[in-house]
Amino acid sequence: QLIGFTEQHGQWFAENVSLQAIANEFGTPCYVYSKKALTHAFSAYDKACYRKDGTRRARVHFAMKANSNLAILNIFSKLGTGFDLVSGGELTRVLAAGGKASDCVFSGVGKSRAEITLALKAGVKCFNVESIPELERINEIAGSLQLKAPISLRVNPDVDAKTHPYISTGLKDNKFGISFGDVIHTYQVAHQMPNIQILGIDCHIGSQILDISPFLDALDRVLSLISELESLGITIHHLDIGGGLGIDYGGDTPPDITYFANTLLDHIESKGFQQLEVIFEPGRSLVGNAGVLLTLVEYLKPGETKNFCIVDAAMNDLMRPSMYEAYHAIVPVQSTHVEPTLYDVVGPVCETGDWLGRDRTLAIQPGDVLAILSAGAYGFSMSSNYNTRPRAAEILVDGSLVHVVRERETFEQLLQGEKTLS
Ligand code: LLP
Repeated sequence: QLIGFTEQHGQWFAENVSLQAIANEFGTPCYVYSKKALTHAFSAYDKACYRKDGTRRARVHFAMKANSNLAILNIFSKLGTGFDLVSGGELTRVLAAGGKASDCVFSGVGKSRAEITLALKAGVKCFNVESIPELERINEIAGSLQLKAPISLRVNPDVDAKTHPYISTGLKDNKFGISFGDVIHTYQVAHQMPNIQILGIDCHIGSQILDISPFLDALDRVLSLISELESLGITIHHLDIGGGLGIDYGGDTPPDITYFANTLLDHIESKGFQQLEVIFEPGRSLVGNAGVLLTLVEYLKPGETKNFCIVDAAMNDLMRPSMYEAYHAIVPVQSTHVEPTLYDVVGPVCETGDWLGRDRTLAIQPGDVLAILSAGAYGFSMSSNYNTRPRAAEILVDGSLVHVVRERETFEQLLQGEKTLS
């Protein structure tokens, strides 16, 4: 059951607007988002963020790498989210969208000097630090700015999130976080640094996780560290449990968001950690099902063993199928009365890996528009200009209102900044 996108008598709608009408007016490929779906997903988290007495126990920091369009950041910011960012560019986007640096946590294994300086000057809430060399760098830059840098350490809890190896991050052999056995020592090192202020502890075990148990395992490991640190005189004020909750791409059964968040928060409180401020960093579960990618059927090409449906979107627009063999449901936005046929849905890019869906039964003809569903997370944000293809337009629907929140790139923009040798 999708929120914000519905099928009525063979026609697909984003809220009150037909997707065919959007394709006709703005062209394809184009991403379409539903404001209602964004708001709905945020509220599902937010409901769990308060205790019975009305006091706040947790806060959502949107992992903006999933979708960093300014309009979407602005909507979330107005709803009261903070942000989880991973680059100076993302910080610049938050500020441009009307968000505050003090509502941002800064994650990532490779923060550059320039990024640390930018974030310290802007006043981010916390750096999620992943190594001693990074701590030393932050301490040194903070010293030169005569500031204290707020930090948490990202713990690698070594739990198996049982997701795709490319999006699993909490295992021993991943590049992320500080090995469980080194965490206490690293906090002690941080504690001695004059320009470091220890605020919290952080972990993130992976993405598209459909089961609550790996989260609870990771929590238990992190909570045990908090107690140990307390006994050593190091107080942890917040616990950032990362993102990772999966969504339904068609046949997946993730836990309900409010149930998921309540289970984790109740677990933390039941272990006696009521004083901790908890941070969630969801990306996919806030935006994934709030967006679709519209694409035009250019050609139907019968082959010896397979039929190909060649569309005008490609791996540069939506990389998830080629990169992770990810499944996205694909539907015609307007049903046509032709014989259903089995197709591989592929793009125009010159790569065998350029496919968007395999073995799909579709009743379509050239000129029809397809919607690739659940494309709101890691869709546009991972898109590229490969094959010198302009990036798609982005449209946001709010009831009956249609807003262009990013214009389609032009060829002129694509060449901007390049020069031949005189
Ligand atoms: N926090 C940290 C530190 C992260 O690295 C990530 C995602 C998140 C939060 C948000 O995770 P989410 O709630 O979205 O699962 N491109 C891949 C997903 C990569 C996720 C990277 N980190 C995909 O398209 O499936």
